[in-house]
Amino acid sequence: MLNWAQGTTRPILMIPGPTELPFPVIQAMNQPPAIQYDKSFDEVVLEPTVLALRDVFQTKGEVILMPGSGRTALEASVVSVIEPGDRVLVVVAGVFGSLMREIMTRAGAEVTELTVELGARLDLPRLAAEIERVRPKAVTLVHNETSTGTTYPAADVGKLARGAGALFMLDTVSAIAGIDVRTDAWGVDLNMTGSQKCLAAPLGMALVSVSDRAWEVMERRKQRPSSLVYDLLRWKERWIPTSRGGQVPDGTPRSQPISIPTHLTAAMSVSARLILEEGLPHRFRRHEVAASALRAGVAAMGLEMFADPAILSNTVGCIKAPKGIDTAAVVARMRDQYGILIGTGLDKIRASTLRIGTMGMTASPQYVLPTLSALEMTLRDLGHTADPGAGVAAAQRVFATAA
Ligand SMILES: Cc1ncc(COP(=O)(O)O)c(C=O)c1O
Repeated sequence: MLNWAQGTTRPILMIPGPTELPFPVIQAMNQPPAIQYDKSFDEVVLEPTVLALRDVFQTKGEVILMPGSGRTALEASVVSVIEPGDRVLVVVAGVFGSLMREIMTRAGAEVTELTVELGARLDLPRLAAEIERVRPKAVTLVHNETSTGTTYPAADVGKLARGAGALFMLDTVSAIAGIDVRTDAWGVDLNMTGSQKCLAAPLGMALVSVSDRAWEVMERRKQRPSSLVYDLLRWKERWIPTSRGGQVPDGTPRSQPISIPTHLTAAMSVSARLILEEGLPHRFRRHEVAASALRAGVAAMGLEMFADPAILSNTVGCIKAPKGIDTAAVVARMRDQYGILIGTGLDKIRASTLRIGTMGMTASPQYVLPTLSALEMTLRDLGHTADPGAGVAAAQRVFATAA
């Protein structure tokens, strides 16, 4: 039997992150080590990168770039603003909402969870009532729940949090640079994300944007956080110049609170440049069309998306697997036979769903069409009957007619 993955050296990454990298981003890492605290890196590479990221985050506040991943951004934000005993309201609509609940619990917060059924809409009046009842110091939301392929109304939640004087902490790990995330306009106090999804940078960096209100909360703490390394206030004290609201007089020596990985920053610098050169509106529209094409393809194969159609994500497609088909077998066959890596679902829906990312580079016909084609062939190999080519044809129609 012929193996179509034989001629490839690695599978194409259609999982919901890490995702494929543009070649200039890969090339940016091919250089000798820089000294992370030397001006030639700190001022010439790091500083312009975080300034460019402000435009990507749509904020006038600081964006902090640290070694780590999305969950580093979540934990650093939590330990920086939450003190033991603080009341917080955590919206849990899937695996990543639960992750935030766990981080908050370990930080000693008194957590109230607002549980949303997997794949269902968020009941805003119920959330408003809970905020009113709990009076939390912070409200947290996962903007794009990667485990179910859903996007939640961050602007509305931000309004409710702000109305109650609570901090608004938003996980945008699978949203930023793929879905419109308006940090300042939505009143996001801590916008927490990772490098390896729609930013299309390598895995290894955590990013957090910090509002003035969040800085004030950090400054008013009774005690410094028990974590030294992830205390975000140290960035304001040791690295951010006074001209941008920090405490380091412009032109005087400064130090990074944590040593910054130079190769990853060089890659991030190119990623940010490519995003801004493309332009945010174009980038968001591209993700929207690619996700619609994926959905049209899936529907034409006789399959359904997992979640409520009103909240389907433009960066992660979570698809109900056909009855009787093993999702792990679908993933293995797509990778081993056709050279394309998609994901199974997570946790409770691991065995019943498949997940496909449309992120950064992969939000395009160049990636979506071969993925649908491989999915159709794989499902046929595994005994699912569908009209051959129907999924690809339906997706092509969406791409062809998109303006
Ligand atoms: C919404 C969301 N939050 C948090 C995380 C955790 O991020 P990381 O795996 O980069 O630590 C992920 C990872 O997939 C995610 O999708």
